[in-house]
Amino acid sequence: MFDAPSIIRTKRDGGVLADAAIDWVIDGYTRGAVADEQMSALLMAIFLRGMTSAEITRWTAAMIDSGERFDFGDLGRPTVDKHSTGGVGDKITIPLVPVVLACGAAVPQAAGRGLGHTGGTLDKLESIAGFTAELSKAQIRGQLAGVGAAIFAAGELAPADRKIYALRDITATTESLPLIASSVMSKKLAEGASSLVLDVKVGKGAFLKTEAESRELAATMVELGNASGVPTRALLTDMNRPLGRTVGNALEVAESLEVLAGGGPDDVVELTVALAVEMLATAGIEDVDPARTLNDGTAMDRFRELVAAQGGDLTAPLPIGAHAETVTAGAGGVMGDIDAMSVAMAAWRLGAGRAAPGQPVQFGAGVRIHRRPGDPVAAGETLFTLYTDTPERVAPALAELDGGWSVGTQPPRIGPLIIDRIG
Ligand code: URA
Repeated sequence: MFDAPSIIRTKRDGGVLADAAIDWVIDGYTRGAVADEQMSALLMAIFLRGMTSAEITRWTAAMIDSGERFDFGDLGRPTVDKHSTGGVGDKITIPLVPVVLACGAAVPQAAGRGLGHTGGTLDKLESIAGFTAELSKAQIRGQLAGVGAAIFAAGELAPADRKIYALRDITATTESLPLIASSVMSKKLAEGASSLVLDVKVGKGAFLKTEAESRELAATMVELGNASGVPTRALLTDMNRPLGRTVGNALEVAESLEVLAGGGPDDVVELTVALAVEMLATAGIEDVDPARTLNDGTAMDRFRELVAAQGGDLTAPLPIGAHAETVTAGAGGVMGDIDAMSVAMAAWRLGAGRAAPGQPVQFGAGVRIHRRPGDPVAAGETLFTLYTDTPERVAPALAELDGGWSVGTQPPRIGPLIIDRIG
């Protein structure tokens, strides 16, 4: 017999949780027998004390067992998915899924909502009029057999993660390697893709701040995937500055449409194509050029089909905040680096993210970046536009942005976007 206080005490005091204790606490929390207060205390103990790799493996398995596990082995074509550990302006899933689809793989994608300062794919896609991510298992299967992809709320998959994810968001326990690894991998292993690519973020806008921690996270998740029979690899990618020129739900959808139309910011295109190359390789699809699908319109065609299948209307205008405020350059020069965390927090203050679980987000809120690091800047030029429906949110957002950018005389030194591949 187990009880929550003993399990919390064991971890609080730096002990190792037994497999059966992990199974008991995850099952109890999913059913409501373990209280939010107790799980919060355990999460904080895990945050502070960490977990052994055996504990992470068992915690992940228990979260998978809390719900259904999909199997698309009978689909007749390879299934592959990617997941990011959470970024700023990270809209990559939106162009990536149709690119991979246009190259011949099917993509079952269980996506999440915003967590902490990071945006969520579902919040972004729901800014398209009519789009729904609440798909039944039968709808997901039907859509994979027809259109070839589905982007859906995890729902019945790893319900323990859904509850724990929401609790982590409000208890300052998101930035924990074991909790991130088990959260990502429980959803991804339950969703039934036959191979997996992870985009593990490094830098100021990532949950884990050092490259060493991000490498360890990547290695842990790759091992969890491979040990479960799902070939998994990871790219370590730079998240010191926002990806692209937009941060915020509908703003990021609009930018993704530019990428699908063959344009868009270089870094968004580069990461989309790099992740597509990895996904197609793990799915065993060779001799295709994912970049071509952005230029010849086939990825855009697949995206339109996917959105229409999920009730979305791309002919309706995307929402944009009713109130806009600009930040201009006091002097000319060269745009310095832009701190991903400052922009993320500004977008969050404008209403793009949540302060409490279940809160609605403002689809039209966010930040548009007019000058990117290294761009020439003229005195008086607009550098950022902030959008919100709630004008009183502008001052706190401006305060977050303050100090997160500069205009100087020399271009900033910027490392490669794709740092390494693991697995
Ligand atoms: N994405 C997830 O699904 N979970 C995390 O903890 C972080 C990013």
